[in-house]
Amino acid sequence: MKGLIPENILEDILGRTDIVEIISGYLPLKKAGANFKANCPFHHEKTASFMVSPDRQIYHCFGCGESGNAFKFLMRHERLEFPEAVELLAKKCGIILPQQSDPQAIRRDSLSSQLYKVNELAVSFYENNLSANTGLPAMKYLLDRGVRQETIKVFHLGLAGSGWDSLINFLRSKNISLDLMERAGLILPKEQGGYYDRFRNRIIFPIFDMRGRPLGFGARVLDNSLPKYINSPETPVYIKGRNLFGLNLAKDFIRDSDCAVIVEGYLDFMIPYQEGVKNLVASQGTALTLEQIKLLKRYTHNMLMVYDGDTAGEIATLRSLDILIDEGVKVKIVPLPKGMDPDTFVRKQGVTVFKDKLDSAESFFDYKLAVLSRRFDIQDEYGKAKIAGEMLLTINKFDNAILRGEYIKKLSETMGIPQQHILEELRKLKPSSSGPQLPAAPPADKKSSPINPAEKLLIKLMLEEKDLIETIMQQLTLADFSDARTSKIVSVMQELALQGKAVSPSLLMNYVSEEDAAQLLCETIFMPQLNELGREKAVNDCIARIKVQRLKSQLEHLHVQIKTAQSAKDEGKVNILMQEFQNLIKKGD
Ligand code: UTP
Ligand code: MN
Repeated sequence: MKGLIPENILEDILGRTDIVEIISGYLPLKKAGANFKANCPFHHEKTASFMVSPDRQIYHCFGCGESGNAFKFLMRHERLEFPEAVELLAKKCGIILPQQSDPQAIRRDSLSSQLYKVNELAVSFYENNLSANTGLPAMKYLLDRGVRQETIKVFHLGLAGSGWDSLINFLRSKNISLDLMERAGLILPKEQGGYYDRFRNRIIFPIFDMRGRPLGFGARVLDNSLPKYINSPETPVYIKGRNLFGLNLAKDFIRDSDCAVIVEGYLDFMIPYQEGVKNLVASQGTALTLEQIKLLKRYTHNMLMVYDGDTAGEIATLRSLDILIDEGVKVKIVPLPKGMDPDTFVRKQGVTVFKDKLDSAESFFDYKLAVLSRRFDIQDEYGKAKIAGEMLLTINKFDNAILRGEYIKKLSETMGIPQQHILEELRKLKPSSSGPQLPAAPPADKKSSPINPAEKLLIKLMLEEKDLIETIMQQLTLADFSDARTSKIVSVMQELALQGKAVSPSLLMNYVSEEDAAQLLCETIFMPQLNELGREKAVNDCIARIKVQRLKSQLEHLHVQIKTAQSAKDEGKVNILMQEFQNLIKKGD
């Protein structure tokens, strides 16, 4: 997509844009030396680690690692695609983008955007069915369940009627191909040839992404027949476990209240939402996935789980708990009475009681212990060991030693087990899989290997002084950079310099799409400045160090090869490798 907008225009837009001005339209920036800082809008934090550099026209968060130029900021903050961010900034600085109305542009219309379009048409088709006369029984069903008219509108609820090809005919009249309908998961092939509508005689719950684009559908029967719900299959735009129902409506409420209430079902979202509890998301019936949690963590690190009061809800809660804790989320649980879900609870007890329930949520500890005590006999020593063992699995997920210590103490006290025994069992467990979770730590999923400091410094120096790129690259080759990230950045710099283009970090950012390369780029920018003298010495030191390191790793590599050849008794090869080894050592002298 990036390639579609000519580089000179991107350059032009960035040249006329001030990132400080753009970002301060969204957050209060405070001057900090040559830079500006603020609390990071992309993760939750109490001390400001989000830096904006007016010189470099980039931002970087030392807390979560998020970084980029003005385009990237708008993409992340306003959830725009790259071309949309470009368009927005172009407008702001009065640059007219070339029109893309040529036939090629239509071909470029990606499969995803075609799928969104088909889904949009289907949403409106189903909505119309529900408000038509034939939709009366379905409408009555919804109203009887306490879903109000305005809620039906807000959620774009609809109805699939009884016809086998009603949707097909409608979409055909809009010139949609059968192939596209099938790819959208809306129709199914018949054995004898032809197609039929996937959803029939069901209430339709469209599933939107957080930007409000329709991804797929859930469809519920109007009676007690089974299956109760059928859902869209996975499609290029609808990937189960990557999306949370309702996030498009709830995200601002979640961010503002700094808390997300996680429920299971569509109605469990809609009923509390319509009654005023708006910071919700629905996982759609399963335990939370890691991807859903990461999505939610963009808005808050505090979550309340309110799953159904049945065994399935209990199991899903326990499973989700471990992942949430592993992800550094502060989670509490709201157990509901047997047989109830948030929908029935709010309708039977009222939203005030529901809110009280949310306020008195239980800690993971009390919840899990209560569940386990019902499952196992705490009086029996094996039961007791089982309960403690299960508790420890979750306690072990806490990265913070103080928290872990508190829970161990609590476990020892509530279960009457000496702490030393608990610690002994804990030691048997493997260290928890994930990394540090304290707010200031980089995201655990991005634990990439450390960057060679000499390579990092060299990049910084080349960025500061374009002429250095040529000087340095006369002495080093790309292969001398040990890391895919550094060599990628250097290769782009070299390329831009060769073409006589500006090598500004913010422009560079458009070419290094790999997250961690972009992050590295930003880190180098915020490293302290060197003076003229220091710079020259640093360049020479870095080059020397990089060369030594390269040589060392080449020698190591050869060493391994020689050993392998020796054990394979391949004397010819051993000799050749030995010669190479000697040559390398000489080169090092
Ligand atoms: P539930 O069985 O708890 O249904 O499934 P519900 O949401 O309370 O629905 P009502 O109140 O009976 O109408 C919770 C969620 O799991 C998914 C749906 O997303 C549902 O909302 N689910 C459930 C399915 O996808 N398929 C099913 O057959 C059942
Ligand atoms: Mn229900």
